[in-house]
Amino acid sequence: MAIDFNPFVDLKGPDLTHLYRDLRDHAPVHWSPEAEVFTVSRHADVLAVMKDSETFSSDAMKTILNSALLVPLTPRYLMKLLSFIFKVRLNPWALMNAGNLISIDGQRHTDLRNVVGRGFTPRRIADWQPRLEAIAEEQVAKIRKSEHFDVVADLAIPLPTTAIAEMLGVETERRNDFRRWSGSIIDMASGAAKENVLESGVLDDISELFLFMREVIRDRRKTPRDDLISLLVDPKQKDVLGELDVIQFVLLLLVAGNETTTNLIGNAANALLDHPSQLDRVIDDPSLIPKVIEETLRFEPPLTVGFRNTTRDVEIGGVSIPKGRNVAFLIGSANRDERRFEEPDRFDIERDASGHVGFGFGAHFCLGSSFARLQARTALTALIPELRNVRRTGPPSSFIDSFLVRGRQSLELRRGSGSVRSPAPFPSRL
Ligand code: HEM
Repeated sequence: MAIDFNPFVDLKGPDLTHLYRDLRDHAPVHWSPEAEVFTVSRHADVLAVMKDSETFSSDAMKTILNSALLVPLTPRYLMKLLSFIFKVRLNPWALMNAGNLISIDGQRHTDLRNVVGRGFTPRRIADWQPRLEAIAEEQVAKIRKSEHFDVVADLAIPLPTTAIAEMLGVETERRNDFRRWSGSIIDMASGAAKENVLESGVLDDISELFLFMREVIRDRRKTPRDDLISLLVDPKQKDVLGELDVIQFVLLLLVAGNETTTNLIGNAANALLDHPSQLDRVIDDPSLIPKVIEETLRFEPPLTVGFRNTTRDVEIGGVSIPKGRNVAFLIGSANRDERRFEEPDRFDIERDASGHVGFGFGAHFCLGSSFARLQARTALTALIPELRNVRRTGPPSSFIDSFLVRGRQSLELRRGSGSVRSPAPFPSRL
C-alpha cells in the first residue's frame, strides 16, 4: 500500500491514530521524495535510530532548528537581517554553526552535556519544588476565583515560562519582556511567525533577547549568583562556556523546555477530561498523578518527531538507507505501536507506560526530563481538584500549528456539570 506522507506537513492533524497505524503496518520505513526524508514509525526501529548515534547523527536537528531563520531571502528580509546583525554585533551564521547540544555528536556532545548538566542534577531539580508549588498555587488561586478559565493560558503557559526565566536568573522586572522574547523564539521555531517575519517584530524581539543575554553573561562572570548562567560561566570551574555557546543553550532551553512542558500539562488535562472515570479516580487519589504524566507522555507526547542523518549506508527494517539521508523518527507512533504496548490507542492511567519514548532515548535523552516531570506533577496536583464539575466551552480548540510539537492552543472550561469530552476529532486524512 503506497502511503503519501510528508513529516513536515502531515503531523499537524488533530487525530494521527490512523496515519500512524498505516505507516507502521504498510510502510514502516517510509521514503518521502517530496521532503527527501525516510520516516521510521515502529517502536523497535525508532529505538534503533536513537540508540546508534554513530550511524544516525543529530546534525539533522541543526537544520530543523536553523530552519526557523531560513525564510525566503527577499531584499526587505535581507535589510532586516543586516540591521539585526548590526544591532547585536553577532554573526548569525557563526551562531547557527556553534555547537548546540541537541545537534552535536560524540565526545563534543558528552563534554558539553557534562557542563550544562550541572544545572540539572537531581539535587538542583528537587530544590525547585517549593518555588514551583508557589507559582502553581498563585496561578490556580486565580482559576479558583473564576467561573470560566483556560488551563493552557492560566496555568500550562505561565508555569514553565516563569520557571525557565527564574532558572536563567531573569529579574522580575524583565519577566514580561522575557516572556515576549520566548514567545517569538517559539513562534519562529514552530513556523508560526515565518509567514510574517517582517511585520511580526520577532527579529526585534530576538535581538533584544541576545543583547539582554549578553549583559547577563557579562554580569554573572563578574558577580556570580545562584542561577544557571552563573553555573555555566563560573570561572572557578574547569570547563566553562563561551558567550555564543551560552546563547545557543539558552535558545535551546526556550524551544525545548517551554512549549513541551506547557503541552504535557495541557495534554494530560485534556486526556483526563476525555476520560471522566479516570479523572474521578485521580481526584480521589492524587498519588496517581505520576502515572497520568507517564501515560500522557506515551499517549500524546508533546514532541512528535525527531530527526537524524545517516553517516553511512545502513539497513533498517529491511530497507536500505544510503549515507547522507535524513531520517525522521516518529515518537508519537512508536508510543502507539501494538508490537510494544497492549491496546495502545486506549488512554489508561493504570497501565505500565514505561518504555515510552516521549523524552527520547540514548545520548540525547531529554536533559530536562526531571524538571518537566516535576513541573507537570506540581501543576496537575494544584489543578486536578478544580476539574470536578467543569464543562468545555467555546469553539473546539485548534492544535498548535507545528509538525514538531503537539498540543492545543487553549483548553477553556466553565464550572457546572455537562459534557467534558472533546468534540469528535475531524476525520483523519487517510
Ligand atoms: C514534557 C516536556 C518535554 C519533552 C516531551 C521533551 C522531549 C525531549 C526529547 C524527545 C528530546 C530528545 C531529542 C533528540 O533525541 O533529538 C529532548 C532533548 C532535550 N531536552 Fe527536552 N523535553 C521536555 C522538556 C524539557 C525541559 C523542561 C528542558 C529544560 C529545561 C529540556 C531540555 C532538553 C535539552 C537540553 C535536550 C537536548 C539533550 C541533548 O541533546 O543531549 N526539555 N527533549
